[in-house]
Amino acid sequence: MLVSLREIVADAYQNGYAVGAFNCLSLENVEGAIMAAEELNSPIILQLAEVQFPCAPLEKMIPMFVDAARSSFVPVAVHLDHGLSFNTCAQAIRLGVTSVMIDGSTLPLEENIRVTCEVVQMAKAFGVAVESELGKVGDTDTVEWDNNVNTFTDVDESIRFVQETGIDALAISIGNLHGKYTATPNLNIQRLKEIKDRNPIPLVLHGGSGTSEADFKDCVHNGISKVNVATAIQLRIMDELRECMKNETDLGYIGLKEKIKCASKNAVADHIKLFESNNKVKQ
Ligand code: 13P
Repeated sequence: MLVSLREIVADAYQNGYAVGAFNCLSLENVEGAIMAAEELNSPIILQLAEVQFPCAPLEKMIPMFVDAARSSFVPVAVHLDHGLSFNTCAQAIRLGVTSVMIDGSTLPLEENIRVTCEVVQMAKAFGVAVESELGKVGDTDTVEWDNNVNTFTDVDESIRFVQETGIDALAISIGNLHGKYTATPNLNIQRLKEIKDRNPIPLVLHGGSGTSEADFKDCVHNGISKVNVATAIQLRIMDELRECMKNETDLGYIGLKEKIKCASKNAVADHIKLFESNNKVKQ
């Protein structure tokens, strides 16, 4: 069933687990993700980021996500990830997403507040939830991730940001990065706790791929209610395909699609269990 991010994440927030938000670039990714969620009786979020539009166009993907969500028997939210402008958020809402992220994290604080407020005002009119980022979660290929505290979410700023914007969920920077880490990161759980203690809203961890099990557990037990995962799905697909091609050289195109779906499902299932969202759907 298609549900609001607000609804899914509120339950996670109250009960100390997190819901996985999986970036899907194909029908196989979507089907695999939903199969995993249904088998594990877990809510799930399907999402697409604006930087992914060149290979997975928004106007083609969102209707597919919405259709898959509607025919699923677990709660599925459909989310725009890293929307870079008001117009992209508006377009995603027109296509049927149940939540949007406006990413003004590269802007000065005042500007970030301004663009986020504009999106919140518009989204509210359509009953759509809004996530926004404070601090800067960079990318593994452009950032030295040596616990660069300058890019971490500032606790005092977060209080002002949450109060003035009225967002539903806050994405934070605590040493997490998007992409493939060259070594396992050490997230700053102390900063997470400080942000959580001062802000009574669900928090979001971006750059979930490659995080240690211990950090994931600390995150989901300390206020992270949504975890974004993209790279890990793509890496799992490539690993499983490479392994399979060693023995099965004549897979065929249909066989290839099945393998991609299966690998997507495996990657999503592993994360659902780590985030403890399995068996959380009330029957
Ligand atoms: P990863 O690709 O590192 O899992 O990050 C996903 C993400 O945060 C999408 O917004």
